[in-house]
Amino acid sequence: MTAKRKVGASQRHAPLPIVVLISGSGTNLQAIIDAVELADLPVHIRAVISNQPQAQGLERARAAGISAEVVDHTLYADRAAFDVALQAAIDRHQPALVVLAGFMRILTPEFVAHYHGRMLNIHPSLLPAFRGLDTHRRALEAGAREHGLSIHFVTSELDGGPVVLQSKVPIRAGDDATALASRVQIAEHKAYPQVIRWFAEGRLALRDNQVLFDGLALTQPLQLSETFC
Ligand code: GAR
Repeated sequence: MTAKRKVGASQRHAPLPIVVLISGSGTNLQAIIDAVELADLPVHIRAVISNQPQAQGLERARAAGISAEVVDHTLYADRAAFDVALQAAIDRHQPALVVLAGFMRILTPEFVAHYHGRMLNIHPSLLPAFRGLDTHRRALEAGAREHGLSIHFVTSELDGGPVVLQSKVPIRAGDDATALASRVQIAEHKAYPQVIRWFAEGRLALRDNQVLFDGLALTQPLQLSETFC
């Protein structure tokens, strides 16, 4: 018996070819795969590429019948050589969008420029707060009252590209970094498919480092709320 597919607004668009880059567990990748399988996200994941051969996300890709590839950064002389190889691996699939989903590598300006306006990243903080690593612990140590995630276009400034959407997560008494990270991840899994959907539907673009949503320049990041879900 064939499962009935939900027919949503997304299906009016031809699937957008994307490539997803990962380094680890791939729960955001899974959220994207699940949204595609629900016919709720008009993209075709042409490949998942990891710089870590043991990344659990590679198994998730294989289980979904998606090409799972490794470009192991330890096999390259330097960052530039790795990025050249990674770019070649991505471009074989001719994606219209590159999705960084827990991809834990600093990228060269040349690589970033090549994908200008067509590469998104998800970062576990309310940027510009807490760029870089270990964001949950740092938010707790700073006494922040709220935390969250940001999805942004990638530029050569680390975690500094124009932010499309944020989702806030309250910090609760007794939270430790693990508890906070889990709640942020739940929000991530809602937010990333939504932003990718906007891009696939042609509602989201980058012009002169300015995010355009439905053709209008964003003056501040969108907030994930029921309005957008
Ligand atoms: C996510 O929480 C993502 O925001 C973060 O890595 C995690 C990957 O989880 N990304 C960064 O820190 C990038 N600077 P996942 O592999 O389960 O999707």
